Amino acid sequence: MDDPLQLIDLHTHILPEHWPDLKDRYGYGGWLQLDHHKPCCARMQIDGTFFREIQSNCWDPKVRMADCDQHGVHVQVLSTVPVMFSYWSKAEDALDLSRILNDHIAGVVAQWPDRFIGLGTVPLQDPKLAIRELERLTGELGMAGIEIGTHVDDKNLDDPSIVEVLEAAEALGACVFVHPWDMLGRERMKNHWMPWLVGMPTETAIAICSVVMGGVLERLPNLRIAFAHGGGSFPFGLGRIDHGFDVRPDLCATRIDRKPSEYLDRIYIDSLVHDPAALRYLVDLHGADRIALGSDYPFPLGEAVPGELILSMDEFDREQKRKMLGGTAARFLGLDEVRLKTLEAGNKAVP
Ligand code: CO
Repeated sequence: MDDPLQLIDLHTHILPEHWPDLKDRYGYGGWLQLDHHKPCCARMQIDGTFFREIQSNCWDPKVRMADCDQHGVHVQVLSTVPVMFSYWSKAEDALDLSRILNDHIAGVVAQWPDRFIGLGTVPLQDPKLAIRELERLTGELGMAGIEIGTHVDDKNLDDPSIVEVLEAAEALGACVFVHPWDMLGRERMKNHWMPWLVGMPTETAIAICSVVMGGVLERLPNLRIAFAHGGGSFPFGLGRIDHGFDVRPDLCATRIDRKPSEYLDRIYIDSLVHDPAALRYLVDLHGADRIALGSDYPFPLGEAVPGELILSMDEFDREQKRKMLGGTAARFLGLDEVRLKTLEAGNKAVP
């Protein structure tokens, strides 16, 4: 009989059910708060303005585990909702909030270590504070790594201040999951949910181009870095980007000597593309070794049944599916044999 498939969902978000009033705590506005206006539901609000309605699966681990059991997901990798990054705020306040969020995620993981793995958040606007929290969360909190946004203000991921944090992550063996946030071109994308549908994939393409063409991957050979939503629009523009590298080396080859496509084996992406043709292309391009199941649970733009697309595709063999459903995530997260065995022992296998 084949080995059972273990499903690890690399891309899920969680919030605490409650946290302090941050405007009170820090003395200025702009923070997200939850308004628990009825059982099982809450409104996300920023300074009293409605942002999004969420349900208890966003904060209640037991509801999440029930959903996971129903969907055959063994392990969720927990990260905060990007609106909580707070890179816009005073750095010491973002550090304080990061600690609240990281302590919460670490607490959930400590209670159910065979069901959850934690990624923390750091105040990326201040590399020294970010590295201090990175050391704490990978050290005493035992988290696997961090989730970061695609930029900080006008700084891309190849900005020296951000590279400093990535360098620390590499040294600590912490993985880095890059999630789009604070999408560009808002003034042109007021309608049709375009910041999420068009802005997010563009943000991610800029982030990947920055670490590839900015020489970050060249400089940090052991950094494990993953990008949400199948790498956004980067994989689909790669032919153009390589061609640009060939015809305008004065603009594109300033930090690297090899074509951008030669760095594909240095990045991980998740599987969240909602389209079999797109996933097929990504497997051809990156290989199953570089693609990890990501559902964006519990949000509606995610994959409602995590792994459904991968499992539905007959052209992938069992080994490719095994990698994409869990093996690649385990490698990206740096799970050691002991942790893998704990996870496997605690989980019912899907035959
Ligand atoms: Co997400």
